[in-house]
Amino acid sequence: MSYNLLKGKKGIIFGALDERSIAWKTALRCHEEGAQIVLSNAPVAMRMGEINKLAEKVEAPVVGADATSMDDLKKLFEEATKHFNGGVDFVLHSIGMSLNVRKGKSYTELDYGFNQKTLDISSMSLHRVLRTAWDMDAINEWGSVVALTYIAAQRVFPDYSEMADAKALLESVARSFGYHYGVRKKVRVNTVSQSPTATTAGSGVKGFDGFIDYAQKMSPMGNATGDQCADYCVSLFSDLTRMVTMQNLFHDGGFSFTGVTPEVIAQMGK
Ligand code: NAI
Repeated sequence: MSYNLLKGKKGIIFGALDERSIAWKTALRCHEEGAQIVLSNAPVAMRMGEINKLAEKVEAPVVGADATSMDDLKKLFEEATKHFNGGVDFVLHSIGMSLNVRKGKSYTELDYGFNQKTLDISSMSLHRVLRTAWDMDAINEWGSVVALTYIAAQRVFPDYSEMADAKALLESVARSFGYHYGVRKKVRVNTVSQSPTATTAGSGVKGFDGFIDYAQKMSPMGNATGDQCADYCVSLFSDLTRMVTMQNLFHDGGFSFTGVTPEVIAQMGK
C-alpha cells in the first residue's frame, strides 16, 4: 500500500546487488511512495547486470561508484543533482563487505591490510558519502541519511568477526557527522540495526542458517524481514521523523532487549 510519504522527494540508494538486497527492496518501496531515485553500486557489482532490472522498475538512472573513491562519489553526486535538477532529500547507505571473512581469516588472525579495506568499505564510506555531500552542499534542508548496521556492534557474535568493529565505527560516524549536519542544515543521520536477513552479504557470515534461526527464536515478534526494513527506511526518509537523528535504531522484532525465550530454553534441554 502506498501513502505517498515520499512524494516529491529525491534520493540516492547505494547497494542494490540483487532482489534479495535490502537496498533493492527499499528502492522499490521508495518508488511506490512517490520518490525519484538514483541507484548506485560498485562498478564490479554492476557488471553482474541485475541492477538494470531494478532501474527499469523504479525508473532510475544507475551511476557506478566505488564508495571508497572520493572521485567516484563526487561524480555520483554531480550526476544525481543534475538528474534531479537540485539537491538530494535522502540517502541509503547499504554497503558492507569483510575481506577477512571472505578470505576465511578468523578474528584472532586478521590480516590488517584486509582489515583497513573492510573498514574503508563498510564504515568510512559513510563518512566519505557525507563529506562529499557536505562539500558540494548536495543534501537539502531536513534531508535524511540512513546506514544499515547490525547488533554485533554492541554484543559479541564471534563469527561476525571484524564486521563487528566495522559496524561500531559506522554507528559512530553516523552520530558524529549527524551532529555537524544537524547544526548546519537540519540533515539527520541514523543507523538502522536490522535482524539477520538472507542476502548475499548476510549469507557470508559463517553458520548463517543457525544464526538466523536463533535470532528468530530470540525475538518476540520473530526476525524483521528485508521488506519490513524497507518500510522502516521509508518512514525515516519521510517528513514524519524529522527530529530523529544520531540514533542507532533497532529494527529486530525485539531481539536486542530480550534476555531469553521459552523456545531457546526448550532447545537447550534437547
Ligand atoms: P547485499 O550483499 O545485497 O548488499 C551489500 C552491498 O554492498 C552490495 O550491493 C555490494 O555491491 C555493496 N558494496 C560492497 N563493496 C562496495 C564498494 N566498495 N562500493 C560500493 N558498494 C559496495 O547484502 P545486504 O544484506 O542487503 O547488505 C546491506 C547492508 O545491510 C550492509 O551494510 C549489511 O552489513 C547490512 N545488514 C545486513 C544484515 C543481513 O543479515 N543481511 C543484517 C544487518 C545489517
